[in-house]
Amino acid sequence: ERTRRCVVAVDGPSGSGKSTVSRRLATALDARYLDTGAMYRAVTWAVLRSGVDPQDAEAVTKVAGETDLKIGVDPEAPSVTADGIAIDRDIRGPEVTAAVSAVSAVPAVREQLVALQREIIEAAGRIVVEGRDIGSVVAPDADLKVYLTASAEARAHRRSAENATDISATAADLARRDRLDSTRTADPLRQAPDAVELDTTALGVAEVVARLQELLAGRRPGQ
Ligand code: DC
Repeated sequence: ERTRRCVVAVDGPSGSGKSTVSRRLATALDARYLDTGAMYRAVTWAVLRSGVDPQDAEAVTKVAGETDLKIGVDPEAPSVTADGIAIDRDIRGPEVTAAVSAVSAVPAVREQLVALQREIIEAAGRIVVEGRDIGSVVAPDADLKVYLTASAEARAHRRSAENATDISATAADLARRDRLDSTRTADPLRQAPDAVELDTTALGVAEVVARLQELLAGRRPGQ
């Protein structure tokens, strides 16, 4: 069972609990874990490093094509490097967070990263993939598609606890990113028609993971 192919797509807005839940689920399934948001953040980091304007789609595309991006898929120790530099910490910083929606709205950047994501998924075989367009674009044949949501308050609360930032500033930033990520023309954040929606506002991580394992068992009879 633990060697069987299994792709789980976890989508949803920021602060819906995707990362924690996806990593725990991957560990429970003895699967790999891919954080696609970290890939968009890594390209954004490279864009800022090169002094390119994040709004300049052509220049951003060029930087994306020239950056050697490596992403580790161990759910216990995910890692990201750009041109050999470990950037796990930097990609969570305010500069990258402020610019990532612009970079991830560039269609040619998405094409490059989606191709890389599909290669990683193919090579891994068993993998939990989190993002915004995994069930709808990256892995439409996933064994299970989940769309996590949570109230705006719960999401802001979680993010500000994670980043030790002010709650009202965090709430405003989340609202801004949700709007940009949902209204962009290239692969906007959206729920795939066959995704299971799960509201995590009142649920703990263990409860969400257990629920997803149940869904997976129900979807794959006889295993
Ligand atoms: O999940 P996150 O906050 O680390 O994602 C960072 C940004 O990347 C988010 O604002 C939207 C973008 N993103 C995307 O466009 N598509 C994905 N599959 C994952 C993230």
